[in-house]
Order: sequence, then C-alpha cells, then structure tokens
Amino acid sequence: MASFPSLLESIDDLNFTQIDVLLSRAKHFKDNPQLSPFNTTPKPIIATSFLENSTRTKHSFAVAIRRLGGLYIDFNAETSSLKKGESLEETFLTLFYQGVNLCVFRSSVSHQLSQFKENLPIKLVNGGDGVNEHPTQALLDLYTLTELCPDLNGKTISIIGDNIHSRVAHSLMKLLPQFGMKIILSGPLEYLPDSATLPKGVELLTDRDETVKRSDFIYLLRIQKERHEGKTSNDNYLETNGVSLDRLKKLNKIIPVLHPGPANIGVELDQALIKSSLYKGYLQVENSIPMRMAIIEAMLLNNDQNIGKVNGEKF
Ligand code: NCD
Repeated sequence: MASFPSLLESIDDLNFTQIDVLLSRAKHFKDNPQLSPFNTTPKPIIATSFLENSTRTKHSFAVAIRRLGGLYIDFNAETSSLKKGESLEETFLTLFYQGVNLCVFRSSVSHQLSQFKENLPIKLVNGGDGVNEHPTQALLDLYTLTELCPDLNGKTISIIGDNIHSRVAHSLMKLLPQFGMKIILSGPLEYLPDSATLPKGVELLTDRDETVKRSDFIYLLRIQKERHEGKTSNDNYLETNGVSLDRLKKLNKIIPVLHPGPANIGVELDQALIKSSLYKGYLQVENSIPMRMAIIEAMLLNNDQNIGKVNGEKF
C-alpha cells in the first residue's frame, strides 16, 4: 500500500489500481466487522475539521476511525485560532506537531487544499470543498454500485438535479467512467454544466422522463441553495424535475435510486420513493464506514516522510 497519496483532494489523486485496492479492502472490512487493525501503540490520531455543516460525512469518518481502532478528535474550527487570523497551514502544522496523523477537512472554498500539493503540513483528506469535489463520497458510491451490480461496464447512471453546484457529481464524473459507466447529467438547464466541458463518457439531457428511461441507476441531487448566487425557486420541482415512486412505475423503471444526502422530501424525490426498497441512500450510509476505513488505513500506511516540513526541514 506504500504508494497511496498523503493528500486526497480529488479523484485525480488516485490511480485505477489504488481505487481497486480501496474497493476490495472496503469489502473486507464490511465482511469482517470484528477487524480493528490499529492495535499498535501509540494508536494513530485522526482529526476532522469541518468548516461547513455535515451529518453523514463527519460522523461516518468518526465511526470509521473508531472502528479502525484509531483515536478521534473533532477539531472545532469555530473556537480555534483560525478565528484569530491564523492561517490554515499554521493550523495544520500545529495539529501535526501535536501528533495528529491525518485530518479530514471540509470547507465551502473550492480547491482550498491545492495550496498544500508541494508542501504538506499533515496528511489531508478532502471531506468536500465548495463546488469542487467530494472524493470519499464518490468512492463509497462506487463501492455501493459494485454491490448492486458487480459488472458496471456499459451501465448508465443518471445524475439528476443541481449538477453544477454538486461536488459529489464532479467527483463521480471523474470516477465512474473509469469503470466503464456512462453518465447522463440531467436537470433544468441552469443546473447543468456547459457541454463543451464534459469529460468522455458524460452527456447532458434535460428531459427527465427520457433520462429515467435510459438509466440503469439514478443518482439524485439536492438543490444546493447555499451555493447559488441568485435566488432559485423549488416550486413544482418534484413534478417537473424530481423523481417519485409513481413516476418510476409509470415509466416501468424499477431501478436503484442513490442519493448522497441530505435529501429534501417533496423536492427531488417523494416520501414513497425514499421509503421504498429502490432507495439506496441508507446503503450508501452503511457503506461509507468500510470505504472510509479503507481510505484512512491506506493513507496512514504509506510511510510518507515529507509531511510537516517547515522551509524544507523537520523539527
Ligand atoms: C453532500 C455534500 O455535502 O457535498 N452530502 C454529503 O456529503 N453526503 C451533498 C449535498 O450537500 O447535497
């Protein structure tokens, strides 16, 4: 596992072999819940530092760290010296010299971790950065898809909703085509990217019913209002762009529906769908634990000696 990166900012930071290792290690952790590999002394210390709200990601990291046998710290940015004007680099170096081995960081600023590419103050995992990426969510979604269908090659997944503001969609677009999946980005035109910017294997479609008909899997997105510049309205969204259980039945598409959460019932989906067996949101939550265990384990085992340097030196 020596070659795993110490900074996981983007799906681009992993190669295919590394992703494959994470998938099988996640399966191993899911199949063997008694495993707790960090039984060394001293135990690794892993922190989360979330500058944005979170229910799933932060707590799933906390559970994954404890399941691994590591020590978990929630670094509270609100009450830290970040509020006294300390830089992110100084903050991370401080955590490093206190003995923290890895930090999972979330912020509303896109690409905030890119500044550390050359000189990493601490091992870092991107827990979601603005509208840029959310690589660990995409990896656990891929793991969930492989559980639902062992051969994803040639299968179509439609990501329906506010694609343009979704860091999850941006990571999925980089990840799923590597496994032969085709992606349809669907939703109202104002939520779709410019077609000229699309990677290979990704296409746009505005017609919701046509999208559903062509899908093997649906991936729903919330309207991410907090990332919108102007005002946007949800009026009638479920009818025109959302997905209900009735609509799936009418279109004769009894297919799995994924959602990264949080879901807004009555907007992008209805109560009947979220309570049905087609809805895989809870399976994604369950799978987030073994996948995040696999990610942390791989990054902690890489034996990188270049972390925490100040002016090229270690203190
Ligand atoms: C997403 C996020 O925060 O990017 N949720 C998550 O991490 N599970 C999606 C969202 O906020 O809509």
